[in-house]
Amino acid sequence: MALVTSKEMFAKALKSDYAVGAFNVNNMEIIQGIVEAAQQENAPLILQVSAGARKYAKPAYLIKLVEAAILDTGVDICLHLDHGEDFDICKKCVDDGFTSVMIDGSKHPFEENIRRTKEVVEYAHAHGVVVEAELGKLAGIEDAVNVSARDATFTVPEEAAEFVAKTGVDSLAIAIGTSHGAYKFKGEPYLDFERLKEIHKLIPETPLVLHGASTVLPEFVALCNKYGGDIPGAQGVPEEMIREATKHGVCKVNIDTDLRLAMTAEIRKHFVENPGDFDPRKYLGPARDAIRKMVAHKIKNVLGSSDKL
Ligand code: G3H
Ligand code: 13P
Ligand code: ZN
Repeated sequence: MALVTSKEMFAKALKSDYAVGAFNVNNMEIIQGIVEAAQQENAPLILQVSAGARKYAKPAYLIKLVEAAILDTGVDICLHLDHGEDFDICKKCVDDGFTSVMIDGSKHPFEENIRRTKEVVEYAHAHGVVVEAELGKLAGIEDAVNVSARDATFTVPEEAAEFVAKTGVDSLAIAIGTSHGAYKFKGEPYLDFERLKEIHKLIPETPLVLHGASTVLPEFVALCNKYGGDIPGAQGVPEEMIREATKHGVCKVNIDTDLRLAMTAEIRKHFVENPGDFDPRKYLGPARDAIRKMVAHKIKNVLGSSDKL
């Protein structure tokens, strides 16, 4: 039991058409809920930490909590930096003991993205750490509504092949229509599967990563709204689309929003039903439980990563 890289996890996932869940963590209850689900399902696991999470919880706490989860459960975990914006934060995480980092140069021009990614790959690989990069821009709800807008934001397959060859990156996040947060689509959900297939055909050995892959589970949105929340019109990526993506090279599926919604729904419900409670364990306990159940469901029924250790 240890902190591990995603190398073996992805090699197996790529061969057998399933994906490893990469869940964003910000505190102890979130970590415990996710890791207990992976333990229960005997599934490979990536926990990822954003710059915002590092700022909120402080790196030392998050790292020690993840190490504690490994000790407690015996689950091997890949500890990953999510959306590292420059070399500096990637280096800090490598030096702190992360086993994987993302350098997100997607907002930069192609050649600049290559340069930034290469720099991180060189440092990380020299320290036994794997690297994810991103090519293309994740569209927001107002973007990519027509074909020309899609061509301008989504990943260009030939560029993906050139990018991977030139950078030596271990995995690649692609833009095919997903976006971060709880408002992913205005009308019918749409992912560009033809583009995904083309990318996978050109770089069949490269594990692909789907960011913005929360389903925005209706049951949690409904609970939030029932118990005083106000999140109308929230919509995510349908589960069957995630399942389909795992058949075309997607080996890592990023989930944060669904964790936030599950936790918030449970806490809102608890407060309304138990107005006299003021012991944090009384509402954080059920929130942790909701996360465990939701993550187990994803692993088993959506990602297909149960019993893949
Ligand atoms: O990709 C974004 C993740 O959901 C992390 O969000 O930057 O608010 O921690 P955050
Ligand atoms: P969601 O907002 O869909 O959960 O995406 C999270 C993500 O991509 C983290 O990098
Ligand atoms: Zn992301």
